Amino acid sequence: MDGGIDDALALILALRSPELEVAGITAVSGNVPVEQATVNGLRIVELLDRSDVWVARGLGNPLFRDPIRATAFHGSDGLGDSNLPLPKLSPSRKPALNAILETLASSKRKSTTIICTGPLTNIAALLTEFPDAEGMVEEIVIMGGAYFVTEYGFGNETPVAEFNVYSDPEAAKIVFEAGVPIKAVGLDATMNPRVQLTKSDYSWLRNRKGWVSAFASSILKNNIKTYGRFALHDPMAVAVKIRPSFFQFANYHAQVETKGEYTLGMTVADRRDWLPDDKLAGRPVMVCTSADPKFKQFFLRRLTAA
Ligand code: RIB
Ligand code: CA
Repeated sequence: MDGGIDDALALILALRSPELEVAGITAVSGNVPVEQATVNGLRIVELLDRSDVWVARGLGNPLFRDPIRATAFHGSDGLGDSNLPLPKLSPSRKPALNAILETLASSKRKSTTIICTGPLTNIAALLTEFPDAEGMVEEIVIMGGAYFVTEYGFGNETPVAEFNVYSDPEAAKIVFEAGVPIKAVGLDATMNPRVQLTKSDYSWLRNRKGWVSAFASSILKNNIKTYGRFALHDPMAVAVKIRPSFFQFANYHAQVETKGEYTLGMTVADRRDWLPDDKLAGRPVMVCTSADPKFKQFFLRRLTAA
């Protein structure tokens, strides 16, 4: 997670969902610097009284590039400039990659899913430094990419690239080319207005009782006021593992552009209806093509459950 508003909402959803056993959280450089992302992860864990879940500080920069930020959208604190109190909890003393590896190793069966809601820097570094980790992960679900498979599937950071992939395209390339099955929730699904929060959803949320509703509405306030809508990018990636029936996927061979002048960070999905025998096609990726609008009500109910 890279410490933004939708990362926070995604963490709340994950930690409030009995269907998931959340072992730990790693922060990564992205929307905000990794130090801020770590603080924001700790804020959520503390808010939900889940100190059983470790939060580790991950890599502070993309593998080979300078970081880019999204503080104009998420606020300088990553949480809509809501200036919430600092957490009392401290991050794990373990380096993030070791924390992930220990969790993978302690899992009885190869049943661990890694859900990525920020740049893929930590996971690329894990797979590079600890190649055995690849065989210990059942699936990687990413919020990332824009695959041009729906009318919403174009870029947000550039005309063709989505922020998480564009932030560290080399890391994304490593993850896409590794052997772990990938489900990719990209802008093709998350930018559909039918699954975005509206002003009336925000009003409903703000009128709910409870500190989680109060927290969620405080971090959403500025964006709803400015844009009138809010895309639930990261919560959708988490919801894939909670209510898979809400989501449709299609299998595309896809790969990440790491050299293009205008296409850097583009996730190139091969939509040809034959399988070329050259390696240009990339590896198979399950790309999310749509989300049922019922997801939004499910998310709001789970977020505000007493
Ligand atoms: O492009 C949207 C993604 O980039 C989301 O994960 C958001 O939090 C930012 O990280
Ligand atoms: Ca994010």
